[in-house]
Parts: sequence; structure tokens; C-alpha cells
Amino acid sequence: MKFPSYAAAGVLSACLLSAPALANSAGVINGAGKPGSMNVCSNCHTQAAVPTVTLTGPSSLAAGETGQYKLTITGGPGLKGGFNVAVDNTAASLDFVAGTGIKKQSNELTHTAPKPAAAGAITFDFSLVAPPSAGTVKIFAAGNSVNGDNNSTGDAAALTSLSVSVTGNNEPQEEEKGGCSSAGGAPVLAFALTTGLALLRRRRS
Ligand code: HEC
Repeated sequence: MKFPSYAAAGVLSACLLSAPALANSAGVINGAGKPGSMNVCSNCHTQAAVPTVTLTGPSSLAAGETGQYKLTITGGPGLKGGFNVAVDNTAASLDFVAGTGIKKQSNELTHTAPKPAAAGAITFDFSLVAPPSAGTVKIFAAGNSVNGDNNSTGDAAALTSLSVSVTGNNEPQEEEKGGCSSAGGAPVLAFALTTGLALLRRRRS
């Protein structure tokens, strides 16, 4: 029974760490599924049908460009919802419109209070400001579909993520490559090579 008791101690210490700082109903960070996330919602929110959580928005942005994204939670108890969004690139930042039930902590976004569903879905709109140079940004998101009883039971959460490729300022837009995040450096290399060749040719003529 060594592993289960170790896991239970982990969950318990996560509760002890997060509980005094702020009530979960007023926002949770470090739970969006980014590697190392401590507060993954489904660790505590249980005993309900799992919702569908989707992230929509551009999968490619120019360096420094701002893109609009939407997190949508459908299914599960579905009375109210909460969320957490984080990115894996410290040069990228997340933003939101004041008064929309969102707050920012440590460059992560979360709800300020459980948000009531409207037309069968709970949605949170936010923006991503791409880093100043080419690369990739992965957006990690958690959506929690809750029953509004101010407790962690009778709720369920799910994770999703979206990879955004960031193109350099002077390059043409790349075609969608099917979400392979490790190809981020290739367009830059190709650009450098073709520019170098063009310069060489110009010098020779
Ligand atoms: C360590 C356990 C734990 C984790 C992890 C956790 N919560 Fe909670 N959550 C609670 C508890 C306990 C409550 C009830 C007390 C309170 O409001 O803080 C709660 C309440 C809520 C409520 C209100 C529930 C209702 O039915 O009224 C929402 C919304 C919520 N949490 C969202 C989240 C989200 C989103 C995440 C993940 C990013 C998350 N929580 C992660 C323990 C947790």
C-alpha cells in the first residue's frame, strides 16, 4: 500500500496548500494540465459525468500579435463552471476583458466566481499575446462543470490544450502543419538559408 498512501498524502497536501490561500470557488491556478500542475481539478471534483471542454481560436499568430480564444464547457452537471488557463512560454502572455468574471495570477487565468451556464454552455473568452519572436506556445486549459453546491462533489472537470505556432515578423504565414510542435525551428532555418543564398547570388552577379 505504499503508492496509494503516497498519492493520498499528495492530494491532502495539495488541499492544505491551496485551501488557506483562497477558496477554490473564487479561482484556482496551477491546475490547467501544464506538466507539473498540482491543482488538476478532477483530483478533487468528482462524482459527476465528465464534461466536454474545448479551446477555439487561431492555431497560428504572428510574433507579437494578439489572438482571441474561447474556452467552452458543455455537459457534466453544467449549472455553473470554473476554469484555469496557462501557457508554456514565458514570453507569451494571457489577457482578458475586465468585468467578465476572469482574473489573472502568475500569468494564468481563472474564474473569479462559479459562472452560470448560458444556452447550455459555460464560456470564458480570453486573449493570447504571442511572444516577440517565432516559436510555439501551448495553451493548457481546464474546465470544471459544477452543480453550484459550493462543494467539490457532484462536479467533473476535463483538460484540453491547443498549440499555437508563432511566425516571425517578416516571414510569410506557414500552412497548418497538423499541430506538430517540434517543427517550430524549421521555418526559421529555411528562411535564414534562402536569405543567405539570395545574398550570395547577389554578390556574385
Ligand atoms: C485540492 C482540491 C481541489 C482542487 C484541485 C480544485 N478544487 Fe475546486 N473546489 C474544491 C473545494 C473543497 C470546493 C468547495 C469550497 C470552495 O468553494 O473553495 C471547490 C469549489 C469549486 C467550485 C464551486 C463548486 C460548486 O459546485 O459550487 C468551482 C467552480 C471550482 N472549485 C473550480 C475549480 C477548478 C476550475 C479547478 C481546477 C483548475 C479546481 N476547482 C480544483 C477543491 C478543489
